Amino acid sequence: MTAVTTTHPEAFRPALHYTARNTWLNDPNGLIHHQGLYHLYYQNNPLGNTWGNMSWGHATSEDLTDWTEQPVAIPCDEQEEIFSGSVVFDSQNSSGLGTETAPPLVAIYTSAYKEASPLNGLQAQSLAYSLDGGFTWKKYAGNPVLDRNSANFRDPKVFRYDGGAGSYWVMAAVEAEEYKVVLYKSEDLKTWEYLSSFGPANATGGIWECPDLFALPVDGNPLELKWVLTVNLNPGGPNGGSAGQYFTGDFDGIKFTSDSTVTSGKQDHDRLQEYDWLDWGRDYYAAVSFSDAPDGRRIMIGWMNNWDYANQIPTSPWRSPMALPRELSLATIDGRTRLLQNVVEEVGSRHAAPAVRSQPIHLTGETRRIPASVGPVQLIEADFTPGTAEEFGLIVRGSGSEGTRIGINPGQGRLILDRTASGDTDFHDGFASVDTAPIKARDGRYRLKIYVDHCSVEVFAQHGQLVLTDLIFPNETSTGVSIYADGGSATVESLTITPLV
Ligand code: FRU
Repeated sequence: MTAVTTTHPEAFRPALHYTARNTWLNDPNGLIHHQGLYHLYYQNNPLGNTWGNMSWGHATSEDLTDWTEQPVAIPCDEQEEIFSGSVVFDSQNSSGLGTETAPPLVAIYTSAYKEASPLNGLQAQSLAYSLDGGFTWKKYAGNPVLDRNSANFRDPKVFRYDGGAGSYWVMAAVEAEEYKVVLYKSEDLKTWEYLSSFGPANATGGIWECPDLFALPVDGNPLELKWVLTVNLNPGGPNGGSAGQYFTGDFDGIKFTSDSTVTSGKQDHDRLQEYDWLDWGRDYYAAVSFSDAPDGRRIMIGWMNNWDYANQIPTSPWRSPMALPRELSLATIDGRTRLLQNVVEEVGSRHAAPAVRSQPIHLTGETRRIPASVGPVQLIEADFTPGTAEEFGLIVRGSGSEGTRIGINPGQGRLILDRTASGDTDFHDGFASVDTAPIKARDGRYRLKIYVDHCSVEVFAQHGQLVLTDLIFPNETSTGVSIYADGGSATVESLTITPLV
């Protein structure tokens, strides 16, 4: 572990990722595109940079890349903390909280009741509404609107269902400690009727939180839709701590039926590798998607941190970035429907000139530094074909003994992200990790698209079939990129490095 000589506290603030100016954030909440603006609400402590005083912070963007922090949208009070939830545009004013000519945005959030409340210790779902396009919010006087007398009923994600069973609002929420996603329906967002539940299924090594449910075309065919249920769990991820898993299947307006469940019941450690994960890294959690994104796009944002060490990461005065927004699609791969995730095209679109664009490079038992000065914020695209090397790949944010290793071991079929020498790892015992994920060559190749920022690497492998996101805290001056092949040969068929600031 190398001592960090970072000189100013802002050094880790990302260039491409959203952070609150000087406070704590966790889960993205209420993601919606409305009147030309993307709204990103989020779990926020307006009074500090560790978890607490949970309120909905707020930021807006026209393009998913430049975000403007707005005043706190829904603050906590003496009765309740404002836990995670979603926002819908109630265009028909079904809730009556606006008018027909000025319909409201409605936030459905979890009231986590505090000591001063008669419901102390319980979690129930409540409404707030905005009549000015999402900037100011009023709580509904009839809160809560859905109470199961439960201490762990939270994270409502509401969407409009229009299908064979009718047209109504559907809420997906969790009974966190029962590893269940519970589904409800409503005509007016105020009265909710139980539909069904899903789970336990696949990974259950930690409580279930922050679900989402949406349909996507398979292989780009709008006539063939499949439903995707995502649910985050903490701990119990494939490399430890917080992570998100997904299921594909069908939703008939009442019940979600999975066609991708590997097993049910208690966690089987050997099976973690077989489940479908939104991200195999340590730092992608509480991911949810936007309502009403233009052109039918399904865009998801996750929180780039892990509850194992979230409150200890060495940043100041802010703490925790959001991950880059991802566009989701479904593709049939080896006879199975898989989720593909790729960073939205808006990110990096203004910085299109690569600093490095190389011819094929043959490596034999060596590490080669790429002689270009690119700066710390980069998009690296690398295409490898294996030879005899046991492992090959790249080292990013490198200098001397410092660096983050992103490798492929074709024999074991593993993608590897080693952050043990990535910079400052001392702030928590569990941080210095080697995280791995199963990977298979496609057409004989391994393709990596890597977004590197001041405190993160996000590795999108095989066209977005596999993602591995990790925080790192390197020295500001560690900006080098190397390529390597260990114990044999490998070919870097193409390599481009584009500075993104
Ligand atoms: C997930 C979570 C949610 C909850 C919120 C509280 O990270 O635990 O289940 O609503 O954070 O901040």
